[in-house]
Amino acid sequence: MKIAIIGSGGREHALVNQLSISKKITKLYSIPGNAGTKEISTNIDLNLENFHELYDFINKEQIELVVVGPEKPLVEGMVDFLESKNIKVFGPRKKVAQLEGSKIFTKEICKKFNIPTAKFRICKSKEDSFVFVSSSNFPLVVKADVLAAGKGVYICQNVDEAKTAINEIFDGKFGQADQVLIEEFLEGEEMSFFIISDGISYKTFNTAQDHKRVGEGDIGKNTGGMGAYSPSNLINNDLESKILKKIIEPTLKAISEMDEKYIGFLYAGLMVKNNEPYLIEYNVRMGDPECQTILPLIESDLLEIIDACCNSKLENQEIKWKNKKSMCIALCSKGYPEKYNKNVEIKNLKEFKSTKDNFIFHAGTKSSGNKILAVGGRVINFVNISDSYASSRKEIINQIKKLNWKDGFYRSDIGHKVIDK
Ligand code: AMP
Ligand code: GLY
Repeated sequence: MKIAIIGSGGREHALVNQLSISKKITKLYSIPGNAGTKEISTNIDLNLENFHELYDFINKEQIELVVVGPEKPLVEGMVDFLESKNIKVFGPRKKVAQLEGSKIFTKEICKKFNIPTAKFRICKSKEDSFVFVSSSNFPLVVKADVLAAGKGVYICQNVDEAKTAINEIFDGKFGQADQVLIEEFLEGEEMSFFIISDGISYKTFNTAQDHKRVGEGDIGKNTGGMGAYSPSNLINNDLESKILKKIIEPTLKAISEMDEKYIGFLYAGLMVKNNEPYLIEYNVRMGDPECQTILPLIESDLLEIIDACCNSKLENQEIKWKNKKSMCIALCSKGYPEKYNKNVEIKNLKEFKSTKDNFIFHAGTKSSGNKILAVGGRVINFVNISDSYASSRKEIINQIKKLNWKDGFYRSDIGHKVIDK
């Protein structure tokens, strides 16, 4: 089978790597891919905003299945477009991709179906928002209703901070805004919970915990994710059943009531307190770095699972997992998540090959002649699977030290809640 994976991050390198194991693959394309995907697939540099150009390539190469990694093309309707051209695509359509593209869309579903989430209010003007926050308890959370890669979220400790957030959002920091979401601050521990769905049935797709803050001890600016471990130690049968019954199933019901279906990965970002789940947000894709952390644990053939989803046959498809722990640490460019240098060489990276238990997934890299250059904030994901989070972390840190990239940094405390107790 000829397959194309859309995207260029660590998540996509992990997807390409896992799919490449399948005996059914005849050719893999990464569009556009990175220096890592180039080693195991054919990178094709296309403008992902031009769906016609993408379709022409898929048609010319007779690609049989397209897997969409990131949220942006999903929210922009890439799946609808390719389906209209009779291409098999794995990922949700534009309307349901609003689960990630519009926080207010998701909150309205939560309200209608009684899904546990932070209490919220939608304000349609600065004045209305100011009045509301002036009589609110703090901390509270102010959110822009757009795809902002996690940056449109402000945790505010007082009225002044809330007003600054409201001003920034209405003044267009994240694009034109005619409303904001203001919500209660939830206490607890965050967990990433995944399912995969074919539009008729769904299966759970493991759990993880992500470290979003840049600094050791979970302090400092928010990032895309500095590292993760899987499975989450919060998960148990009782909690899983609550998540499915109170959050996932009502959401899928809401979608079917819109005469839509959900095909793809669905990622519920949850806050867990006293073994009770609350929905913080949905993402309509795998997490990054959760994907890199979770996929090495899968024993089944990922292509068979994804293909079964596209053929509405997920129900009979078994998904087997290794009984192991997995950890991922992201090596980032110094300065990330703020300013950092681009096109910086990473020497010796080619000597680091994935093995049975160690995986190297590139994110912001590009090859230039014989060299590999760092071009993004998060540059390389080091993943290890083992019987304990502690030994995985030790092995990863050994690998990073061996690479000895002077322009990079990483967090050495990933998994501290499950290791350094
Ligand atoms: P989001 O983009 O909605 O996932 O928000 C980014 C991050 O902000 C989340 O991963 C949480 O760490 C935090 N956050 C968002 N909403 C809340 C909330 N209501 N209570 C506490 N933390 C939140
Ligand atoms: N790890 C967070 C995300 O993928 O959005």
